Amino acid sequence: MIVLGIETSCDETSVAVIDGEGRVLSNVVSSQMEAHALYGGVVPEVAARAHLENLPVALEGALEAAGARLEDVGLVAATAGPGLIGALLVGLSAGKALAFARGLPLVPVNHLEGHLFSACLRPGGEGAFPVSYPFHGLVVSGGHAELVRVEDGAIVPLARTRDDAPGEAFDKIARRAGLGYPGGPVVDRIAARGDGRRFPFAIGRSGDGSRDFSFSGLKTAMLRELQRRGVDGSPLVADNLDPELVDLLASFQHAIVAALLDRVASVHEAEGIRQLALSGGVAANTELRAALAAWGDEHGVPVRLPDRSFTTDNAAMIAWAGLLRFRREGAGDLAQANARSRWPLGTL
Ligand code: KG4
Ligand code: ZN
Repeated sequence: MIVLGIETSCDETSVAVIDGEGRVLSNVVSSQMEAHALYGGVVPEVAARAHLENLPVALEGALEAAGARLEDVGLVAATAGPGLIGALLVGLSAGKALAFARGLPLVPVNHLEGHLFSACLRPGGEGAFPVSYPFHGLVVSGGHAELVRVEDGAIVPLARTRDDAPGEAFDKIARRAGLGYPGGPVVDRIAARGDGRRFPFAIGRSGDGSRDFSFSGLKTAMLRELQRRGVDGSPLVADNLDPELVDLLASFQHAIVAALLDRVASVHEAEGIRQLALSGGVAANTELRAALAAWGDEHGVPVRLPDRSFTTDNAAMIAWAGLLRFRREGAGDLAQANARSRWPLGTL
């Protein structure tokens, strides 16, 4: 079985080819980062237009790199949501057209479900790690923070963010610090040489006893700290920062990691985590990976960290999640596959 995956939910145009064992035969990711960097964030109209331009090239590139032809494809999996509606429509429509023209089944994939299972994927053409249920998943990205329990055929949400996503907080703070976009990678790099315990920030809580995340309080506190130091968004050089600012950024990152760890620990206490899979763009974060791995060691919980090449948006994870769903329940009616800007995990 050859699966063609298509991802266009946000600012990466990606097409991938995987086989039935979850071997990633190709995973072309065409980033629009430069188009959006000018604005310090993703501009929906710019994204949709860029997907339209990039998708045919990515499709050809993915097939060629996999040594496959369109005739070899047995299943099409395309992201249907959540995401920017104009952006989603480009990839999903292309997937539907391909499936219709070739008489293939199409699986509309939830982008977050794609992230959830991405920790199983391996680089270098190796087959995916087998999925064993139940497991817990922590998806942390530019748009989401979701902690869920994954059962065979069901996803049970346990906590999500009430306001900002962690990646969004990284991006907004980096922008205000004059460090460019996206913010996560640059703050990650700076924090590595700072003291993350120098400026303790409070862990945001929802206030009603739920486990939901909240990052807007932290973001506001951090913006205030930047303002107090006269940091106003004028471009700064990451490798040449005031040492106090380095510690401040390290402390900000440390607070995000501590908040994520806090909820994981709380869920483990409440229902026991058998296995934890980390995913999403923020899963590339060095401190988060180290902290979760250490927590897992300490509590005897295997923690699966995704290969960095599968953390940010990519179509290999969409193809893989689509294949798993197809095996479980087949493909739906092609005509019913619609793009949706909102699509909470665990809902149909
Ligand atoms: O999953 P993703 O590509 O897009 C969404 O679905 O949102 O995640 C992108 C996010 C951005 O906010 C980016 O700043 C963040 O992931 N990110 C990181 C790191 N690399 C990317 N955040 C923290 N540390 C990193 N190393
Ligand atoms: Zn994503």
